[in-house]
Amino acid sequence: MRDFRGSTALITGASSGIGEELARLLARQGCRLVLTARRQDRLDALARELEKAGAEGVWVLAADLAVAGAAARLVEELDHRGLSIDVLVNNAGFGGSGPFLDTDLATEQEMVQLNVVAVMDLCKLLGRRMAARGAGHILNVASTAAFQPGPLMAVYYASKAFVLSFSEALAAELRDAGVVVSTLCPGPTQTEFVARADVGGTRLVNRVTRMASAPDVARAAFVGLSRGSRLIIPGVVNKLGVLSVRLMPRRWVIALVRRLQEKS
Ligand SMILES: NC(=O)c1ccc[n+]([C@@H]2O[C@H](COP(=O)([O-])OP(=O)(O)OC[C@H]3O[C@@H](n4cnc5c(N)ncnc54)[C@H](OP(=O)(O)O)[C@@H]3O)[C@@H](O)[C@H]2O)c1
Repeated sequence: MRDFRGSTALITGASSGIGEELARLLARQGCRLVLTARRQDRLDALARELEKAGAEGVWVLAADLAVAGAAARLVEELDHRGLSIDVLVNNAGFGGSGPFLDTDLATEQEMVQLNVVAVMDLCKLLGRRMAARGAGHILNVASTAAFQPGPLMAVYYASKAFVLSFSEALAAELRDAGVVVSTLCPGPTQTEFVARADVGGTRLVNRVTRMASAPDVARAAFVGLSRGSRLIIPGVVNKLGVLSVRLMPRRWVIALVRRLQEKS
């Protein structure tokens, strides 16, 4: 198990849900934290809480990572403050649902910018430095949605398929440089994601799964990160779901996902 004491972690999407819980866990292990998301007030409140609990260094850098070039500006700000990142957690992301021709294009462009481009940018900019130092950890948050196409959530599922494919490739490329890349694939989790993606009334959320809690998912992520696991799928039901996708004909899987993504 890796000891994160004295390391510095950058967590995107630290203002709520899984990212916020991961920040608490890493702080408890003695990790210094750089917290980012759009809502500065939420990040400031978390920073105060962590410092009160004894965290050594916590920095808040608010940023909208759905804006082109924002990841590069964030890295410039890290440099400006002399912060070197040992652990990069690409967690910020959001989803959206509805028939593709009816959903809002600008929102989907933002989704791709945040879920895909910002993840790629931060991996490139900070991954290069980690490789030059011969050490580092990257945790990219994908989803169980990454394993198959998702009718009625087409762009979100595709964005997470990118994160999974990209991260697994990166893990193989960076292993010899001493950089460990892990991919977290949570299933449905009770966070603000559910309301923003408007998936509350779907069969998947209403009937099929018991939603995981953000602290449980963050704990699984932390254990996987500490062990250097390549793929982290929290929960037995999610593991079985991913396995069944590999065994079932693709056509059946897509039809099933469409049914699950419909409102019940
Ligand atoms: N919840 C689920 O069912 C589920 C399942 C599988 C995977 N995931 C993935 O888990 C990750 C974390 O989501 P969550 O469930 O914890 O949801 P959440 O509570 O909504 O957290 C999302 C985080 O992303 C940040 N964010 C959103 N838009 C942003 C932007 N434009 N720029 C910078 N930060 C932004 C949010 O902060 P601000 O609003 O303050 O910017 C928030 O901190 C996401 O990548 C999501 O796709 C979630």
